[in-house]
Amino acid sequence: MRIGILTSGGDCPGINATIRGVSKTAICEWGMEVIGIHSGFQGLLTGDVEQLTEKSLSGLLNLGGTVLGTSREKPFKKNGGTVDGVDKPTLIRRNMEKLGLDCLVCIGGNGTQKTAAKLAAMGLNIVSVPKTIDNDIWGTDISFGFDSAVTIATEAIDRLHSTASSHKRVMVIEVMGHKAGWIALYSGMAGGGDVILIPEISYDIHHIGDVILNRVKQGRNYSIVVVAEGIATDGQSRAGEYIARAIEVETGIESRETVLGYIQRGGSPTAFDRNLSTRMGGHATELVANRDFGRMVRLKGNEVSSIPLAEVAGKLKLVTEDEDLVVQGRRMGICFG
Ligand code: F6P
Repeated sequence: MRIGILTSGGDCPGINATIRGVSKTAICEWGMEVIGIHSGFQGLLTGDVEQLTEKSLSGLLNLGGTVLGTSREKPFKKNGGTVDGVDKPTLIRRNMEKLGLDCLVCIGGNGTQKTAAKLAAMGLNIVSVPKTIDNDIWGTDISFGFDSAVTIATEAIDRLHSTASSHKRVMVIEVMGHKAGWIALYSGMAGGGDVILIPEISYDIHHIGDVILNRVKQGRNYSIVVVAEGIATDGQSRAGEYIARAIEVETGIESRETVLGYIQRGGSPTAFDRNLSTRMGGHATELVANRDFGRMVRLKGNEVSSIPLAEVAGKLKLVTEDEDLVVQGRRMGICFG
């Protein structure tokens, strides 16, 4: 078989380990040919590809980013335009035929899973792998990239404690997550945050102010507030800035904000993410070898299995009130809003 592989959407640690997992298994175990497609679906529209060999796959396990490059090209986007008068999904079908691809492996987040599901519905042979630091892809317990992002955010929160304490300040740290609060919840709990705000749980700024003032009364002269970028704000300022200013008004305590930004997405994956990427990559290739198309690999408990793409597309996996870290955090007096 000759398979194509692409990476689409925002990058994250573990993509290269997944490319390696898919491709090495394909070449070594199944004797397949692997064609790397550059810049996500854009490369399939323009035919920008390279053959991947065992040699070109070496050194990828711990490398951040994606060696194939990525883009946010969405071929099914309404009014997404045509290329030389041909609509993009048709062009993708033609180019897959031209390149002699028996199957396409798509590594990406929610947008990519949606596109993959639509291509599969057109009758194309598709297998996908969930990738995002946000951990918001439906159907998988964890997506690779999440553990690395949480590890980086936790380290940042750890570092804020000493400077917050020295200056008796409130330190607000804004982390990524899009519409989901997974990174804020996991790094906030691991980093000992006093207040953790996520989009899924509404907050009352007066209550947050009371919590912080109560801490001062009990002799705790500083507080750490972890906020997800997607929480409700005035719509004008970033989440971290908005909450820091509001806390100053509520408490009169000097507050500072830190936006962690793309540092969460860059650099080397954790050991957990390397191994998850390797496992998911290998299982994706097994699906291809078995011609079990139209599916996304996923982690359920400690088992890697797969789920139909049609079940995943268009859904978001959000934090719920009964999430164990929320329940245990609440019992310990951590404020979620
Ligand atoms: O989905 C991953 C993510 O990093 C989000 O957490 C963040 O909101 C977004 O991508 C940023 O995307 P961009 O690369 O388009 O700035």
